[in-house]
Amino acid sequence: MPMQQLKQFIPSSPAFLLDQQSVLHNLQDLAELKKLSGCKVLYSLKALPLASVMHWVKNTVEGFSVSSLYEARLAYEILAGTGSIHLTTPGLRAEEMAELMRLCSHISFNSLNQWQRFSGIAPQPLSLGLRVNPKLSFASDVRFDPCRPHSKLGVDIQDLCDQDIFKQLQGLHFHTVFSATDFEPLLKTVATIREHLGSHFATLQWLNLGGGYLFSQINDHRPFIELVKQLRQEFGLAVYIEPGKAILEQAGYLISSVIDCFNSDGKQIVVLDTSINHHPEVFEYQRQPDLIEHQAGGRYSATLVGSTCLAGDIFGDYHFEQPLNIGDRVVFNNVGAYTLIKANRFNGYPLPDIYAYSNQQLIPLKYDSYEAYRQQWFV
Ligand SMILES: Cc1ncc(COP(=O)(O)O)c(C=O)c1O
Repeated sequence: MPMQQLKQFIPSSPAFLLDQQSVLHNLQDLAELKKLSGCKVLYSLKALPLASVMHWVKNTVEGFSVSSLYEARLAYEILAGTGSIHLTTPGLRAEEMAELMRLCSHISFNSLNQWQRFSGIAPQPLSLGLRVNPKLSFASDVRFDPCRPHSKLGVDIQDLCDQDIFKQLQGLHFHTVFSATDFEPLLKTVATIREHLGSHFATLQWLNLGGGYLFSQINDHRPFIELVKQLRQEFGLAVYIEPGKAILEQAGYLISSVIDCFNSDGKQIVVLDTSINHHPEVFEYQRQPDLIEHQAGGRYSATLVGSTCLAGDIFGDYHFEQPLNIGDRVVFNNVGAYTLIKANRFNGYPLPDIYAYSNQQLIPLKYDSYEAYRQQWFV
């Protein structure tokens, strides 16, 4: 059912809805890519560590990629031995290493310091790698650029070349792009790494190309397929990708109701029962989110705002064919990744209720109660 109709049937608002069909469709595309190239796909848990999603995904992927002990524990529980768990993070803590090394199959250390402190205590058969920073910037905005000057993410490729660690090093990990819609950065990154590492490159067992590519928005997959095939054939490498957004972004919707409307200095202000609490990247990156009801050139304009006390809790200016009234519902689309996981209860507003849409059925997954809020703060 189109979201314009479905929104009326959702029992509560605000609500976060995940369309299973859309997730499965994205997974299908990745499965095809896997078949054509021989790459291995990991789901990057940081995009949304929702158990239902992890269950939908787990049979199509090789495993999960994680960034912390809690993500690793969740991945371990859901996979129950059916997939691998790959970790990289600048945040390794000495006291967590024993458990992380038991839970994970692959760890890519983020710095030479991490490598020196922890690689010696790794049990068999944990596979050890390093996150390399190729010092190639592809993002126009430094906030999204893992290779920005003075980056904290990965070992500088220049420093890596001088190391005497290649006998123990089994793999390399990199992640250099943000929502990329072509493979140019990938080709450049791999070429740069090969050039710098020379014969050391041939001693590796695996290469993790990271996430950041919006595969379904890239028309020509041939450069990716050729690259992966070449890496596998020439060097015998296992080649991993770890997408998050590519699997989830289009599958998520935030449904909200209008709770107030008024004029402020000549502009129509429409207050929603959601806020940037539920979509923090709108404020973090000052980015206007997509809205299904927006009609470019529509006769009525309004500024959609959230219901918290923060003056900057604003979604942006939109146009409509009809004026919005109290009780109307609106839907932000393309919010499947990095929204719910970053959501918070600032001002005491609950998290959105969570629904799955599967086989034409609305399935309630979670209701955020006062008890949950109380438990968080009643200490
Ligand atoms: C190391 C690493 N891998 C994978 C991802 C997933 O990226 P995306 O969701 O853009 O595909 C990220 C995102 O920040 C990341 O930092």
